[in-house]
Amino acid sequence: MVGKRSIIVGSIIALLLALGGMAYFYNQNRVVLREGPNLPPIGEKETDPAVWGEHYPRHYESYRDAAEAPVIRTKYGGNDPFSKLEEFPEMTTLFKGYGFGEEYKEERGHPYAVQDIGEINPARKKSGAVCLTCKSANIPELLEEYGDEFYSLDFYKVKDERIKHAIACSDCHDPKNMALRITRPALREALFKMGKDVDQASRQEMRTLVCAQCHVEYYFTPDKKVVTFPWGESVEGMKPEEVYEYFRSDEYAENQFVDWVHPDSQTPVLKAQHPDYEFFMNSTHQAAGVACADCHMPYVKQGNVKITSHFLASPLRTIEESCHVCHRQDSEYIKERVYHIQDNNYNLLKISADRNVEAVKEIQLSLAYTGANEELIKEAQEYHRQSQWLWDWMSAENSMGFHNPAEGLNYIGKSIDFAHRAIQAARQARGSE
Ligand code: HEC
Ligand code: HEC
Ligand code: HEC
Ligand code: HEC
Repeated sequence: MVGKRSIIVGSIIALLLALGGMAYFYNQNRVVLREGPNLPPIGEKETDPAVWGEHYPRHYESYRDAAEAPVIRTKYGGNDPFSKLEEFPEMTTLFKGYGFGEEYKEERGHPYAVQDIGEINPARKKSGAVCLTCKSANIPELLEEYGDEFYSLDFYKVKDERIKHAIACSDCHDPKNMALRITRPALREALFKMGKDVDQASRQEMRTLVCAQCHVEYYFTPDKKVVTFPWGESVEGMKPEEVYEYFRSDEYAENQFVDWVHPDSQTPVLKAQHPDYEFFMNSTHQAAGVACADCHMPYVKQGNVKITSHFLASPLRTIEESCHVCHRQDSEYIKERVYHIQDNNYNLLKISADRNVEAVKEIQLSLAYTGANEELIKEAQEYHRQSQWLWDWMSAENSMGFHNPAEGLNYIGKSIDFAHRAIQAARQARGSE
């Protein structure tokens, strides 16, 4: 008996050792060691991805795919920089009087970041060099040189004289050992305020936090235009309702932060940027420990090795690699589930946008109406501000609701309610229902 048992135990140990060995071999194969050992090490301040690419040619090639792979438009995303204003004509009304109302394009891959901001309407880069903060690997050296003065430097001067590369390796990696690192101070500071030291983050957390350097909601402080994240002191403080309250805090003139005043409704409106990280927080996937990189940077085979893909794009291009690690269903089914979530989000978002357009028109009518009740107009503007903010939060996050379906519908539902209240108050201001 004892002999049999020890054979079983022995076999189990042998099997575990074999599995461990395979896992080790797999990892050795996956983490591509530095190639070209005769090259000098990558310099501390090296920002050129091509130089990093001499050491890591497969990663460089995969990074270049974001500029060179065919353009594929998915139902709501993809790397085709189509005009959002043509796709969502209601945006022309809702962003009237602001740069985004003149030109607003769907985003595409990282290597295009500098080119794309170079080509957009000048109205959208009036703030200065600050607009380059999340576009280029040259920013950390400029911040080191100029400190907070960097943000208000002239956009064109900085772009022409100092910006050499778009988002690249040094934005996320330490050249010494390729560890992930945070290079944008705003994230470090916002997390510090929450009592979190980013240098203590786990590897899995870093696979999300490197993205949170840029894929977030932010604003520029009114004085020095310093990039700042409007988060409270806890994770809850990243929700759009809390961020809305933040923008009302006492620091600002007339008690609230305003991006621009809508020319038709005179509403002091806010523009949401791209709160991908905040919206992802508390989603099913985030709660289950899944990171941005799990879906957007899956392991892919290159010859006989596996590398982390650096072609950051729609995961619908790579369902096999991105989703099959955890989901067993076939690709067509998974895609349909994603589209099902996105369609629902899109339909409600459209209703919210239409009600906001109606609110703008009703407030405009009341403003032109002799003897209208000013208190009620103010109330209508406040509801409109709140409604458009929640709509914009969901319109600007990049996954058409996929990153956190349940919370998404909650925000859009509230937005629709606020829009109805705005319409009602504006009508009451003219004495009509
Ligand atoms: C569970 C998988 C998953 C995770 C985790 C995830 N995403 Fe996504 N992401 C998607 C899917 C699916 C889409 C929708 C793509 C489409 O519509 O073509 C998407 C869309 C996007 C897009 C727009 C892509 C396009 O083609 O327009 C961006 C940007 C993005 N995600 C960033 C992030 C960031 C940043 C994080 C982490 C905070 C994250 N994602 C986490 C699956 C994921
Ligand atoms: C947006 C952030 C980001 C950028 C930019 C970036 N990487 Fe990475 N890289 C990652 C992440 C995330 C991982 C996965 C790390 C992990 O799981 O620990 C990774 C992993 C790696 C690895 C480890 C091996 C592997 O396959 O997992 C190498 C080598 C690497 N990257 C090279 C590069 C090179 C070269 C560039 C520039 C051409 C680059 N990276 C640009 C985020 C980035
Ligand atoms: C330094 C800032 C920065 C960092 C760090 C960063 N991004 Fe981006 N990302 C951008 C910008 C800017 C764009 C839009 C570029 C354009 O449209 O020209 C973008 C675009 C994208 C897209 C859209 C691609 C497409 O085809 O539509 C995806 C997906 C994406 N990022 C995912 C990620 C993920 C995942 C991470 C973390 C691993 C990350 N990004 C880290 C700034 C950043
Ligand atoms: C690292 C594991 C992991 C990866 C990778 C992953 N998922 Fe998931 N996904 C989960 C878990 C865990 C759940 C929670 C439900 C469950 O246990 O099946 C989930 C739930 C879902 C749901 C249910 C709806 C929701 O959001 O609550 C959808 C849809 C989904 N995943 C789609 C995708 C798609 C599409 C991809 C690839 C782009 C993907 N997932 C990648 C682990 C993962």
